[in-house]
Amino acid sequence: MTSNWCRCTSCHIGYGWRDASFDFSDPSRIDCLICHDTTGTYAKVPTGCGKERAGLNLLRIAQKVGLPSRANCGACHFCGGGGDAIKHGDLDSTLKNPPGSHDVHMGGQDFSCQECHVTTGHRIAGASTTCAVSEGVVSCLDCHDERPHPEEHPLLRKLNDHQESIACQTCHIPVFAKARPTLMFWDWSKAGKDVRKLPEDPYYISTYHKKKGVLIKRQNVRPIYAWYNGKHRRYLAGDPADLDGATYINKPCGDITDPKAKITPYKLHTAIQPADAVYGCLVIPKLWGGFWKHYDWKRAAEEGMKEAGLRFSGKIRFVNTVMYWRLNHEVVPKQEALSCTQCHSPDGVMDFEALGYKGDPAITGGRFSKTPLNKSSL
Ligand code: HEC
Ligand code: HEC
Ligand code: HEC
Ligand code: HEC
Ligand code: HEC
Ligand code: HEC
Ligand code: HEC
Repeated sequence: MTSNWCRCTSCHIGYGWRDASFDFSDPSRIDCLICHDTTGTYAKVPTGCGKERAGLNLLRIAQKVGLPSRANCGACHFCGGGGDAIKHGDLDSTLKNPPGSHDVHMGGQDFSCQECHVTTGHRIAGASTTCAVSEGVVSCLDCHDERPHPEEHPLLRKLNDHQESIACQTCHIPVFAKARPTLMFWDWSKAGKDVRKLPEDPYYISTYHKKKGVLIKRQNVRPIYAWYNGKHRRYLAGDPADLDGATYINKPCGDITDPKAKITPYKLHTAIQPADAVYGCLVIPKLWGGFWKHYDWKRAAEEGMKEAGLRFSGKIRFVNTVMYWRLNHEVVPKQEALSCTQCHSPDGVMDFEALGYKGDPAITGGRFSKTPLNKSSL
C-alpha cells in the first residue's frame, strides 16, 4: 500500500486513509456499512481513500443494517488483486449465490462466511496465506469428525487413515476456479509498452495490459500439492531476493518428515517483477499516480522505495517470483472428491516423488509406517 494509499484503502478499510499517519485507534474511521449494509447499494470510491460513493441514500442504508452476507464480505474478498476471481482461485462472485455443485456449504447449505469464520467481538477467525495476522484459525474439523468417512466400509475407512497426512481440502477441492478464470501468471516486465490488446478467451485468457503487462488466467485448474504445517515463510519488504532463480513470497512450511504437516492444495501463482539489481531485494514501486502515469520503472521504484523507507540503487532487474494460495472454498459434492485411483495410478494427480516419497506410497508405504496402515482393511 505504501505510496499507493488512496487506490488501496477502499478495501484496506478505513475512511480517509491516505498516508502512514492514519489513526487506527479512531473508531469513527471504521466503515461499518461495507460489512453491514443489506440494501446492496452501499459502495466506496475505488480511488477515494476509503470514502463512500457520492449520492448514496445513507439514511435508508443505515435503517436497514443487518448481519454480513457473502456479498458484503465478497465486496473485498472476491475482487482482490485487480478484479473478480483474480487473486484467490477459490473465492469469487459466484459465491454470492452458488449452486451446491460449486460449493457444498455456501451453495448446498447456504452458509454465510462467518458460519465458518466465527466472529466474536469483531475478531474474524481464519488464517490467510499471505497476511501474518490472524484472529484465530478455521478448520474443517470445527464441524466435521476427524474420521468422517464410514468406519464400517473397508474402502471408505481407508480414507480416514489418510487424514494424518492429507488435508481434507486435498480430496474435497479437486479443482479450483470452476466458474471464473483466476490469475496464474503476471509478467510486469512487459508493462508500460504500447502493444495491441490481445483478444480474450474466457477459458485461457492471455491479455496484454499497458498498466500491468502480460496476464494469464485459467479456469478449472488442478491444484498443486505441498506439505503445510500451519505456517508459511513470508518474504518481507527488503529481504534478499533470488535474482537468478525464483523468490518465494510465502512458501508453505513443513515436509514429509514433519508429523504436523499435511499435503495441502494450492493455487500456484508465478510472476516476473522488478527487483533492485544491486541491493538484491524486490522493489516496491509507486504505481498509482506513479508508474501508471509515467511508465518509468526507475522513477516508480525511486518514489516507492523512498516511501517504504528502503534504499534503491537506481538499477532495476526483473526476477521470477512464486506465490502460494491455499484453497479452502469450492468444496465439491462428495461424489466428486478424489478417488483412490485418481492419486494411486501412474498418471495420478499427485507427484509423490516431489513430495518426498520413494514412489506411490500405496506400494512403497506411507511416511511413518513400517508396514502399511490397516492392511487388513484392504
Ligand atoms: C477490491 C479490494 C482491494 C483493493 C482495491 C486492494 N486490495 Fe489488497 N487485499 C484485499 C484483500 C481482501 C486482501 C486480504 C485477504 C485476501 O487475500 O482476500 C488483500 C491483501 C493484500 C496484501 C497482502 C498480500 C496479498 O496479496 O494478499 C497486500 C500486500 C495488498 N493487499 C496490497 C494492496 C495494494 C498495494 C493495493 C492498492 C494498489 C490493494 N491491495 C488494493 C483487497 C483489496
Ligand atoms: C469486516 C466486516 C465488519 C465490519 C467493518 C464491521 N462489522 Fe460488525 N460484524 C461483523 C461480523 C462478521 C459480525 C458477526 C455476525 C454473526 O455472528 O453472524 C458482526 C457483528 C456486529 C454486531 C452484532 C453484535 C456482535 O458484536 O456480534 C454489531 C452490533 C455490529 N457488528 C456493529 C458494527 C459497527 C457499529 C461497526 C463499525 C464500527 C461494524 N460492526 C463493523 C463484521 C463487520
Ligand atoms: C472493506 C473490505 C473488506 C471486507 C468488507 C471484508 N474484509 Fe476481510 N480482509 C480485508 C483485508 C484488506 C484483509 C487483510 C488484512 C491485513 O492487512 O492483514 C482481510 C483479511 C481477512 C481474513 C484473513 C485473516 C487475517 O486477519 O488476515 C479473513 C478470514 C477475512 N478477512 C474474512 C472476512 C469476512 C468473513 C468478511 C465478512 C464478514 C470480511 N472479511 C469482510 C478486507 C475486507
Ligand atoms: C465451509 C467453511 C467456510 C466458509 C463458508 C467460508 N470459508 Fe473462508 N476459509 C475456510 C477455511 C477452513 C479457511 C482456512 C483458514 C485457516 O487456516 O485458519 C478459510 C480461509 C479464508 C481466507 C484466507 C485465504 C488465504 O488463504 O489467504 C479468506 C480471505 C476467506 N476464507 C474468506 C471467506 C469469505 C469471504 C467467505 C464467504 C464468501 C468464506 N471465506 C467462507 C472455510 C470457510
Ligand atoms: C484421501 C481422500 C480424502 C480425504 C483426505 C478426505 N476425504 Fe472426505 N471423502 C472422500 C471421498 C472419496 C468421499 C466420498 C465417499 C463416498 O463414496 O461416499 C468422501 C466423503 C466425505 C463426506 C461425506 C460422508 C458421508 O458419509 O456421506 C464428508 C462429510 C467428508 N468426506 C469430509 C471429510 C473431512 C472433514 C476430511 C478431513 C478430516 C476428509 N473428508 C478427508 C475423500 C477424502
Ligand atoms: C461450520 C461448520 C462446517 C465447516 C467449518 C465445514 N463444514 Fe463441511 N459440512 C457442514 C455441514 C453442516 C454439512 C452438511 C451436512 C453433512 O453432510 O454433514 C457439510 C457437508 C460437507 C461434505 C459433504 C458434501 C456432500 O456431498 O454431501 C463435505 C465433503 C464437507 N462438508 C467437507 C468439508 C471440508 C473439506 C471442510 C473444510 C474446508 C468443511 N467441510 C468445513 C459443516 C461444515
Ligand atoms: C489425494 C490423493 C490420495 C487419494 C485420493 C488416496 N490416497 Fe492413498 N495415499 C496417498 C498418500 C499421499 C499416501 C501416503 C500417506 C502417508 O504418508 O501417511 C497414501 C497411502 C496409501 C497407502 C499406504 C498406507 C501406509 O501407511 O503405508 C495405501 C494402501 C493407500 N494409500 C490406499 C488408498 C486407497 C484404497 C484409497 C481410496 C479409498 C486411497 N489410497 C486414496 C494419497 C492418496
